[in-house]
Amino acid sequence: MTDRLRGKVAIVTGASRGIGEAIAAAMVAEGAKVVLAARKPDALHAVAEKLGDAAHAVACHTGKEEDVDALVEATVERFGQVDVLVNNAATNPYFGPMMNVEWGAWEKTFEVNLKGYFMCARAVARHLLDRKAEGSLVNVTSVLGQMAAPLQGVYGMTKAAVISMTETLSAELGPRGIRVNAIAPGLVETRFASALTANPAIRQMVLDRTTLKRLAQPEDIAGAAVFLAADESRYVTGHTLVVDGGWTTT
Ligand SMILES: NC(=O)c1ccc[n+]([C@@H]2O[C@H](COP(=O)([O-])OP(=O)(O)OC[C@H]3O[C@@H](n4cnc5c(N)ncnc54)[C@H](OP(=O)(O)O)[C@@H]3O)[C@@H](O)[C@H]2O)c1
Repeated sequence: MTDRLRGKVAIVTGASRGIGEAIAAAMVAEGAKVVLAARKPDALHAVAEKLGDAAHAVACHTGKEEDVDALVEATVERFGQVDVLVNNAATNPYFGPMMNVEWGAWEKTFEVNLKGYFMCARAVARHLLDRKAEGSLVNVTSVLGQMAAPLQGVYGMTKAAVISMTETLSAELGPRGIRVNAIAPGLVETRFASALTANPAIRQMVLDRTTLKRLAQPEDIAGAAVFLAADESRYVTGHTLVVDGGWTTT
């Protein structure tokens, strides 16, 4: 399929690698103009170059409000408007029992994964409300926001909160034509998850429970983001779409 996003402008955070890069590439392939955001400019510009004129890189720390406001402004300046936001940039600096977490790691996780998601969602929603335009906000959460997440408990709390944020924002913004949904991936082979995917015991444990008998690649998540951004999902809001190869059904 092509052109499902023709005429739409999207911001994808965390687009310099992994799931965000795959989502940005899929959106460009469907005809969208896409602004890619992440902190480190080199990798970001390399992805933008690969995607061509429909992509534009803007360095942004999503946990900093001035960066987020500048991101929306830069998108409007480059492509005229914003219709779609994919909140995807997240971090997970602490792997271990919740009882031992230090506040620095806690604060970093909540700053990027939750406050950052909210700041981006609010900035794009304000832009849509000012334009009296319809739009779609897509929050990449995790199946670890829907179940116990031993050794990743702080991360799991932020991902659970993103689901709550998705539902409440969808209720508040739905009457104004703005849809808000989430995607909950299972284990995806990216740098982010390499501590897990490189651990044979964890890898096998997830594979054993995954109905499709393989771990996800970033491209496996991108179709869900395109669907939730496109008009074909126009009656879907407040929903968390699980994309986990069946892991959490077993
Ligand atoms: N991989 C998995 O197994 C898995 C499973 C479930 C959910 N998820 C979720 O999927 C999303 C993407 O994960 P991934 O595996 O693709 O991660 P990844 O490969 O590590 O990519 C993370 C991206 O986020 C950017 N980023 C990190 N902190 C940022 C910040 N403060 N401001 C702006 N950009 C920032 C990174 O670029 P810079 O470092 O340059 O900023 C990079 O582009 C995350 O929300 C994650 O929680 C992943």
